[in-house]
Amino acid sequence: MARIFNFSAGPAVLPLPVLEQAQSEMLDYQGSGMSIMEMSHRGKTYDAVIKAAEANVRKLMNIPEDYSVLFLPGGASQQFAMIPLNFLRASGSADYVHTGSWAAKAIKEARIVGKVNVVWDGRNDDYLRAPKLPELALSPDASYVHICSNETIGGIRFPEFPKTPAPLIADMSSEIMSRVIDVDDFGMIYAGAQKNIGPSGLALVVLRKEQAERAPESLSLFFRYATHMKEPSLYNTPNTWAVYILKLVTEWMEKEGGVAAFERRNEAKAKLLYDELDASDFWKPCAEKGSRSIMNVTWRLASEDLEAKFVKEAQGAGMDGLKGHRSVGGIRASIYNAFPEAGVKALVAFMREFQRRNG
Ligand SMILES: Cc1ncc(COP(=O)(O)O)c(C=O)c1O
Repeated sequence: MARIFNFSAGPAVLPLPVLEQAQSEMLDYQGSGMSIMEMSHRGKTYDAVIKAAEANVRKLMNIPEDYSVLFLPGGASQQFAMIPLNFLRASGSADYVHTGSWAAKAIKEARIVGKVNVVWDGRNDDYLRAPKLPELALSPDASYVHICSNETIGGIRFPEFPKTPAPLIADMSSEIMSRVIDVDDFGMIYAGAQKNIGPSGLALVVLRKEQAERAPESLSLFFRYATHMKEPSLYNTPNTWAVYILKLVTEWMEKEGGVAAFERRNEAKAKLLYDELDASDFWKPCAEKGSRSIMNVTWRLASEDLEAKFVKEAQGAGMDGLKGHRSVGGIRASIYNAFPEAGVKALVAFMREFQRRNG
């Protein structure tokens, strides 16, 4: 078996011990005689899995009691739609910060439902920086403020989060549990699981309970957060496999020292790469320094041909997933929690060699 270094932006690398445990439990989950995918989601065995998954998330993120933790289908994209459907009134408005491609998708969904104020737009900087907090022109009567805390495609993040009068809602898909945050600063946090915490198709939602009560009566039951809170993440048949993997990933994280330990590791890994990118103008890092993501590192080379050569040769050297998103091109190295430091070191060594031959 040859596992390569997987720099994919998502679905992304999972911790090897998690994959091995899932493999060993695949045919007979803890003496049940069946796999986790084959058993009732209402049985005792699965109940213990989903409860443990929730407990792990609560512990890792230090989530207060007045927040619900939900596992919902449809990934983060479904949340783009559910948020305005639940919280944006026809008579009201919501503030959205436009930091790049994922913020844009959230804005597009919200505009179908109601009035959106784009309170900052990074267009003039090609979406390569996050706003400084005083730049946000927040509205006094917004129902909520939406941000994408880490733009996976541009490779930028909010170095700090705005304190907003209206509840702050953050798409943390590409940085969930990669840095220590204070959940109390947010009305809601959500993330597609497929980068830091599990397989795709599953969204983790952390929602202040009182916030859920704001959904209009006209909204179909399935799309109301309150519905999923009442039968905790079991209103529909959940993606039992994805929740099980999330449970294993969060257990692994706990064993490895929790979010604070991962934040330190992630910063160290990102520094290795940014230091190399800053060392010579052969490399052209994209994100503005103060907004650099520690999850998705993006850069350009002198030409698209050279970028294509870099990606191809890196692949030959056992490094996959380095091609930038098709909408922006360039190079992108996604180095999530489970991505090993050895992989970053291998990439840096490859970059030096590539520069020597092509510089
Ligand atoms: C920041 C961010 N938000 C939302 C999404 C969409 O997630 P999903 O495909 O799970 O709907 C992605 C996917 O890559 C993302 O990176």
